[in-house]
Amino acid sequence: MSFIESLRGKLALPVIGAPMFIASDPDLVIAQCKAGIIGTMPSLSVRAEEDLGPALLRIRNELNEFQSAHPERPVAPYGVNIVVHQSNPRFEHDLDVCVQHRVPLIITSLGAARAVADRVHSYGGHVLHDVINLKHARKAIAEGVDGIIAVCCGAGGHAGALSPFALVRELRQEYAGPLILAGAVSDGAGILAALAMGADLAYMGTRFIATAESPSRQEYKQMLLESAADDIMYSNWLTGVYGNFLKPSFIKAGLDPHNLPPRHNSEVTVSSNKPKQWKDIWSAGQGVGVIKDVPTTAELVSRIKDEFQAARARLAAF
Ligand SMILES: Cc1cc2nc3c(=O)[nH]c(=O)nc-3n(C[C@H](O)[C@H](O)[C@H](O)COP(=O)(O)O)c2cc1C
Repeated sequence: MSFIESLRGKLALPVIGAPMFIASDPDLVIAQCKAGIIGTMPSLSVRAEEDLGPALLRIRNELNEFQSAHPERPVAPYGVNIVVHQSNPRFEHDLDVCVQHRVPLIITSLGAARAVADRVHSYGGHVLHDVINLKHARKAIAEGVDGIIAVCCGAGGHAGALSPFALVRELRQEYAGPLILAGAVSDGAGILAALAMGADLAYMGTRFIATAESPSRQEYKQMLLESAADDIMYSNWLTGVYGNFLKPSFIKAGLDPHNLPPRHNSEVTVSSNKPKQWKDIWSAGQGVGVIKDVPTTAELVSRIKDEFQAARARLAAF
């Protein structure tokens, strides 16, 4: 069954809650799936590798129980993001655990591998791969992935630099398969815009950090409420790979975002240890400007549904 067919009747909105290192965890995933959007988290958000299996079991059990109690409600499948790269020492372990638990959706980043796709397909799961350009998309499609996530400019985390208008249309010229658009989608109008451009689903990260269930710190959530698109800086200072970060978080960490010390001899703790980097310098996408509160995930999804319907009605009238 194709990825899109597998979602029939299971979604309240055409949305994947994007995986976010430390910022999305089992609690957020469960809340997203119960609300009717696909909930995902990076395997590395579960900090000790031996805790990954129990975390997946908990997600599956809670979702099954919820579905049994509410057979009329669309309960979405969940997914796990795995970094397919030699720099990830947990790659083999985390993939084995996900296969054992038959995780319905695996999102690969950095590397797309046929071996991963084959293993996930063996139990009926699906693989999406995130890309920032057409070249990487072609490679992933050749490796047998089930869909492409176009990570465009303005996305939180490690983002691309291409406009969604450019990348989605380029991809659609040669790829008819499942296509998911990421980058600054923060409300219902943004989701409709993604579909209008040719995507099948929208990928929303930053908006879900400002929810009751996200494990992110209160100060981080507060900074999202106070920030606008102009407060986002595209930089490779933190990890060597370009991503979007909140300028005020650099200032909070005692750094001048426009005059950062050289990366290699910085004395700042954030440059020495990966988890600390993402704990002290905070990432967000350019869609941050429309975030004005910290609701529960259920409240947020319900509101986004209304916004989506309103945007459709506005277009229909037009
Ligand atoms: C704090 C943060 C951490 C992220 N960590 C990851 C990650 O571990 N793996 C990954 O594939 N993407 C990661 N992303 C990117 C998201 O999956 C997604 O592409 C992005 O959030 C979409 O853009 P938006 O934030 O503007 O909605 C992260 C994003 C944020 C904001």
